[in-house]
Amino acid sequence: MRLYVNIDHVATVREARGADEPDPVQAAAAAERGGADGITVHLREDRRHIQDADVRALRAAVHSVLNLELGAAPEIVRIAARLRPFQATLVPERRREITTEGGLALHGSDARVRAAIAPLTARDIRVSLFIDPDLRTIDRAAALGVPAIELHTGRYAQTWRKSNAALRALARAAAHARARGLAVHAGHGLTYENVQPVAAIPEIEELNIGHSIVSNAIFLGMEEAVRRMRALVDEARERGAGSGT
Ligand code: PXP
Repeated sequence: MRLYVNIDHVATVREARGADEPDPVQAAAAAERGGADGITVHLREDRRHIQDADVRALRAAVHSVLNLELGAAPEIVRIAARLRPFQATLVPERRREITTEGGLALHGSDARVRAAIAPLTARDIRVSLFIDPDLRTIDRAAALGVPAIELHTGRYAQTWRKSNAALRALARAAAHARARGLAVHAGHGLTYENVQPVAAIPEIEELNIGHSIVSNAIFLGMEEAVRRMRALVDEARERGAGSGT
């Protein structure tokens, strides 16, 4: 299973002071030493954390692969098409949200999403759509012809202590998506405590984890914070493979 580390909040700390540290490029290198298979950043329209120059620098410096999260605003799509990250994950973006709140709905009003997929795909960028674990939305994603989806694990992250309903919904959604030929990614709100049941879902091949890793990096350093997540993910995966699930 691939572990992609989202380093947006390294830039959040830098922007809080308007200074030039901490440096996301250094954070990416440390995450890679800790076992990250990819580096994820979200270039928001409001540029509240990651800046255009960060994406350019990371595109050049990352040894693994760069996954650029973006809303479907034409300006940002043009930047992504020009920079050509390995992967572009389209997300809904609202100006006043604290973090990405829900998945893309992919109904008629998501015309901008449809318009974004073509120029990215034309530049050989692998396009993934961030959606809720909802079977009809998965069918809409498959109909759009993208190779991958990322399942929003936010509801699971909020409810996993009390109920396993959200985990079951993720497992069902992952199997449904895989059966339709989609590569299945997942992320949002995953922590050392709750990552393993999600990592054990066999159809999920990539996790995107940010806030919790960056939080732990304050105490452990980025390399060690990633190494701990890597070990938990690998352990859950091996256990799942061993039990034949
Ligand atoms: N995946 C997507 C599409 C996201 O927007 C985010 C948040 O930036 C994440 C994963 C990571 O979520 P978290 O920071 O809660 O780990």
